Amino acid sequence: PEDVGILELQLVVPGTYVDQTELEKFHGVSAGKYTIGLGQDKMGFCSDREDINSLCLTALSQLVEKSGISYSDIGRLEVGTETILDKSKSVKSVLMQLFEESGNHDVEGLDTTNACYGGTSALMNALSWVESSAWDGRLAVVIAGDIAIYAEGAARPTGGAGAVAMLIGPNAPLVIERGLRSTYMAHAYDFYKPNLDSEYPVVDGKLSIECYLKALDKCYQSYCQKARKLSGLTGESNDAVGINSFDGIVFHSPFCKLVEKSFARLVLNDFLSTPQELIPQLYPGLDLFKGVKLEDTYFNREVEKGFMAFSKELFNRKTKPSLLLSNQVGNMYTASLYGGLVSYLCSKPIQELVGQRVGLFSYGSGLASSMYSIKIIEGPKLTKLLSNLKSVIPLLNSRKKIDPTEFSKTMEIREVNHSKAPYKPVGSLSWLFPGTWYLNQVDENHRRTYQKI
Ligand code: ACO
Repeated sequence: PEDVGILELQLVVPGTYVDQTELEKFHGVSAGKYTIGLGQDKMGFCSDREDINSLCLTALSQLVEKSGISYSDIGRLEVGTETILDKSKSVKSVLMQLFEESGNHDVEGLDTTNACYGGTSALMNALSWVESSAWDGRLAVVIAGDIAIYAEGAARPTGGAGAVAMLIGPNAPLVIERGLRSTYMAHAYDFYKPNLDSEYPVVDGKLSIECYLKALDKCYQSYCQKARKLSGLTGESNDAVGINSFDGIVFHSPFCKLVEKSFARLVLNDFLSTPQELIPQLYPGLDLFKGVKLEDTYFNREVEKGFMAFSKELFNRKTKPSLLLSNQVGNMYTASLYGGLVSYLCSKPIQELVGQRVGLFSYGSGLASSMYSIKIIEGPKLTKLLSNLKSVIPLLNSRKKIDPTEFSKTMEIREVNHSKAPYKPVGSLSWLFPGTWYLNQVDENHRRTYQKI
């Protein structure tokens, strides 16, 4: 099959959010710390009425409905998540309830977990299936979804929740470029969830940022090297491959400010591989950084400032449009990168998007990371994909704002009841968008049942 990629995208976000300015006051931190310092305006969150199963039930049912396919058209279904409710039973198996009526039980694929990276791994599996001898001509679905919540403290404003379901198949309007994929994996304890009774991670914030930036450097260098090779270019420092090879770049976004810094870092990478004699002309004013080493600059303010200022206009054009959901919903973990793609596609008219190459950087603590790219192909399928995304901004604007006291209480209810059985959720159904699946109850054997509003 040719042109394998994404045929449709379906976003799910919670119906409720907390305002970050109000949260700054509530937490007693200095005004601007979350909004300017982290770049976050609103944070989506769920009550005990929603869990990872319900979020994915909503995502899958809405994807099937909007794209006009039937459950029998799906031959593979994968879920990427780090929101774990059960050490054995997959979210995918819960989703099979939706297939009952169609009679289709011939559906490959299960869950993939590694922090925020599971969705990307699931996507790679789905692409491989379509390109393999096991493919039976049907479509694949990948759902990246998470409920990201942190204990009270510095990390709490970097939570969020949401899911993105993707329909995968041949002749797609968003083609994943073949042979242009780079990966960097290593062992790190930057963010992990060793306590299985809690939804909260153990996080070393500073180390997680260092790991993220290092992974970005490695993936970008390797991607550029592969791109040079594919296009027949030779030599290490070729200006023909670099930031300008992309019309847009979408990053996994724990918070917007890190992405702005990351964009500047790609320009720093380009700078460091540019022949000395070209620097004054290509990078005016940045001469003084000529000798810096990437591994010494993760927290170097001068380098950060210099390259952020230099790359601001490029950032505004290529990456800022991808941060809408990150800014308005927060970190959706596995769904964050794909929410970035949705945001980017919502931000520009179709004429501008056609023919573009969009780079994607996926990062999951622990750590796993990859960079790859998508080509946007003109045609009725692109028109359909983009018109289905027209509901995204109205959806964001129709959410309910909840005050920080109520938000905090809701987090406490989740915390106390996380693995309780039997359990009857208490969260108000009026917080949910119509069409949302929600947790009805957990019985004494921890069996969960769901209903749709
Ligand atoms: N006005 C404007 N800016 C402010 C203000 C203010 N009043 N107060 C602080 N700031 C700035 C700081 O200068 C800093 O920005 P800078 O780094 O550009 O200088 C920023 O706001 C954050 O302030 P810090 O003091 O660094 O914040 P803190 O250490 O309390 O927490 C952190 C930030 C570490 C990101 C925390 O929220 C966290 O641990 N989050 C979870 C981990 C995470 O998301 N890691 C990213 C990769 S891994 C993943 O995806 C989960």
